[in-house]
Amino acid sequence: MTTEARQEDGGGVATSPETLSITDNRTGKQYEIPIEDGTIRATELRNIKVDEDDFGVMSYDPAFMNTASTRSAVTFIDGEKGILEYRGYPIEQLAEQSTYLEVAYLLIHGELPSKDQLEEWTHHITYHTYVHENVKEFMHGFRYDGHPMGMLEASVAGLSTFYPEAAAIKDEDVRYIQVIRLIAKMPTLAAFAYRHSRGLPYVYPDNDLRYVGNFLSMLFRMTELKYEPDPRVERALDILFILHADHEQNCSANAVRSVGSSQVDPYSAIAAGVAALYGPLHGGANEQVLRMLHRIERKENVPDFIAGVKEGKERLMGFGHRIYKNYDPRAKIIKQARDDVFEAMGTNPLLEIALELERIALEDDYFIERKLYPNVDFYSGLIYEALGMPVEMFPVLFAIGRTSGWLAQWLEMITDSEQKIARPRQVYTGERGRDYVPLEKRS
Ligand code: CMC
Repeated sequence: MTTEARQEDGGGVATSPETLSITDNRTGKQYEIPIEDGTIRATELRNIKVDEDDFGVMSYDPAFMNTASTRSAVTFIDGEKGILEYRGYPIEQLAEQSTYLEVAYLLIHGELPSKDQLEEWTHHITYHTYVHENVKEFMHGFRYDGHPMGMLEASVAGLSTFYPEAAAIKDEDVRYIQVIRLIAKMPTLAAFAYRHSRGLPYVYPDNDLRYVGNFLSMLFRMTELKYEPDPRVERALDILFILHADHEQNCSANAVRSVGSSQVDPYSAIAAGVAALYGPLHGGANEQVLRMLHRIERKENVPDFIAGVKEGKERLMGFGHRIYKNYDPRAKIIKQARDDVFEAMGTNPLLEIALELERIALEDDYFIERKLYPNVDFYSGLIYEALGMPVEMFPVLFAIGRTSGWLAQWLEMITDSEQKIARPRQVYTGERGRDYVPLEKRS
């Protein structure tokens, strides 16, 4: 509330401790804006006007550097301390003791499931892994060398045409079945995209296998009657899915929320998340780490490479984070998964270079002063490569894990009475009121 009224009453500016006092030097008027949870409501600024016709002050914040777009109870991050929690549970405990499907339940429902609830949830997801046969047809239409992330993005959006009832987003039961379908079908679509890009026949889901084991089967099964996933690989990928499941209001979660705020069906909203994740600044960094390691080629070349980074010639990919100014907690956990996969599949020769990079960087003042630590992508690419995944599949794997987080964010947004269609303002900098010039009169 402004204190304009108070001023007129001769009250001056109140000095309640939970408020922000603003003086508009254009008018000399003073305003008092409530501070709630460390934020002020941007719409309060609209009361600050030079006169009645004035639109009011707006906040200008390209890239949302300092704007909270929502209240959320899904994921907590403290970047200074290196803390990541899903629904209040530390990522370390979840990665060590939980499974991806249980974490997905937690993200969606807000609570860990009971034994019966988990069984039912797992059953539902397992029995929704099949996709309509026509999906194979449109997958077939993609070029053989198309990027699997493009195929995933298009096929997730395409699912909305198979489930038109999903448009009834206000119906809780309808929403719930789409959540199940999306978590269940994402690995199937991802595996189909991979098989298509390899020119291999599609492998149907095997309901006897667990979520990750079934995904591995759909990716890698050849002539064997039954695919038996290596439990170490299965567990490692399960952990990677847990680590990638949510990361609060990141670019793709924001895309899901923004597109979903138009009240479109969830397949279209999640497809927007896949599109955002496709970008190299978001889901593509692990691919860059691998390219960097290949380029460094040998451990002996690491000091020269680091010297180049310090001279500003290039970046040490997989290091640094906008939010984490401490060790990315996901990067710590991933080390164990890395060792397990290497034990099962054989060591990736690039590991030696990565370890040397990490060792030198963590001791070097340049990285210490700037608080640059390994992030989740420093080792995930090495693991994926050891699993036999081509680099194009890296963001696809990220998308499978992130689906439960996107859905949790989408559900929260849909049921939040404060949310409306997302529609930012702009500061217009273009021309005004020009007269149209007919083509023949333009020079
Ligand atoms: N190598 C070398 N120097 C770096 C690096 C790096 N990876 N990252 C930041 N710096 C330096 C940067 O040059 C700057 O130095 P100075 O103050 O002398 O100009 C300082 O550290 C601050 O950097 P910034 O670019 O202002 O930091 P930011 O918060 O805008 O960028 C980042 C964060 C992740 C984009 C950046 O650290 C980076 O480019 N890292 C490499 C790419 C990468 O690994 N990305 C994956 C992020 S984790 C996946 C996810 O959660 O989405």
